[in-house]
Amino acid sequence: EYPLPIPPTANVKTTWTNATAGATIDYYEVTIKPFEQQIYPNLKATPLVGYDGTSPGPTFQMRKGREAVVRFSNNADVENSVHVHGQYDRSPFDGWAADTTKPGEYKDYYYPNGQNARTLWYHDHAEYITADNAYKGQEGVYIISDDEEDSLGLPSGNYDVPLAITAKYYNYDGTLNFESFDQAGLWGDIIHVNGQPWPYLNVEPRKYRLRLLDASLSRTYILSLGVDGDNKNVTFQVISSDSGLLGYPVSTDDLEISPGERYDLVVDFSPYAGKNITLNNGVGISEIVDYPATDKVMRFVVGNEVSSQANNGDVPSTLRRVPFPPKDLSKADKDFKFERDGDAWKINGVGFADIEHRIIAKPARGSVEVWNLHNSGGAGTHPVHIHLIDFQILSRTEGRGKVLPYEAAGLKDVVYLAAGETAQVVAWYAPWDGVYMFHCHNLIHEDHDMLVGFNVTQLGN
Ligand code: C2O
Ligand code: CU
Repeated sequence: EYPLPIPPTANVKTTWTNATAGATIDYYEVTIKPFEQQIYPNLKATPLVGYDGTSPGPTFQMRKGREAVVRFSNNADVENSVHVHGQYDRSPFDGWAADTTKPGEYKDYYYPNGQNARTLWYHDHAEYITADNAYKGQEGVYIISDDEEDSLGLPSGNYDVPLAITAKYYNYDGTLNFESFDQAGLWGDIIHVNGQPWPYLNVEPRKYRLRLLDASLSRTYILSLGVDGDNKNVTFQVISSDSGLLGYPVSTDDLEISPGERYDLVVDFSPYAGKNITLNNGVGISEIVDYPATDKVMRFVVGNEVSSQANNGDVPSTLRRVPFPPKDLSKADKDFKFERDGDAWKINGVGFADIEHRIIAKPARGSVEVWNLHNSGGAGTHPVHIHLIDFQILSRTEGRGKVLPYEAAGLKDVVYLAAGETAQVVAWYAPWDGVYMFHCHNLIHEDHDMLVGFNVTQLGN
């Protein structure tokens, strides 16, 4: 049993101030490089490649409105392209899959950090090797905070913990096994949180904010908190999702999370002093393959002392006014079909390799569009991610047949489509022009070849 690692915080290297423009920009440097991690005491150390030689990489703590430039240097032996998932950055800094940085080179990425507080994450996006790069460790947490969120008195500091969940396979010699079954997915039999298999975290009997991120290549989870020796689950509050605070906290005792999604929870451990609480995973979701221990994720060991009562009050019943886009302004209803095509996966029959046709939508800048995302069913589930924008999930038909309460209370950038499901999503296509990606976040599907682009233009079509 090993403790939960907390990734280091990224440090500002220098700050540039341009008095005329009134801009202050924080500059960071991160090196993508190989490292080894002793995951199994009896096996050889596992070779990985990560941001600054850690996985997850350093956590970026950004403030709304404070711009940043990050120099990502490639000291690995394959190409990369860095994407900050959930950032509305300009298109040249968005990690376009074909815009890769070669070994020995670097790229400076500019991040406006203009959005409301939210949990984002950054990961590789290089064409055809995204899954492999992310699997070996190129993923990390990126947080934007702001005054509005601070004023709510949510648990902070040591009581605000990122939990990046991944699932992997290992070979007997300790190296990673990168085998996907029939390009359907890489499910993984070992569950990690912040890079450590099934860790534990000592917590105090008080409230915590847990920032959950499903950074797995393919595995979707149904999470719940079980009190050991008791057969009821802990009810917790979901306060934030992909695009920041929900309108109001949603109480639940289980939570579905698929690759790319983020949900922040407030969990009150105060009734459980001296007890162990296990973060469990409900198994048997659609085609996802389960193993003997994939029903567990990590454990919280609740102590008896509270060292600080700061930000330990009730979560306010209203969190923010969520800027839902007005559906009635939409002039476009577009349909996108996610389906298998031989050995590959396609969106409306198009994949990233189809250079001529891979821009499959041209929303006018500033317009509102409704997109219907269909999983044609049969084979595969698809967590669908649209870059640049935040969307509202208007409906989900077939399968679960509903929008879950914690999906409905906020804006998202990933929507999970189980077999046969269709979701309708509405978004403002703003604030920038440019070409962005739209894809399945099961990274095995993305690399084979369920990845296309859309072009936000002045004119649209
Ligand atoms: Cu999290 Cu296009 O990715
Ligand atoms: Cu998919």
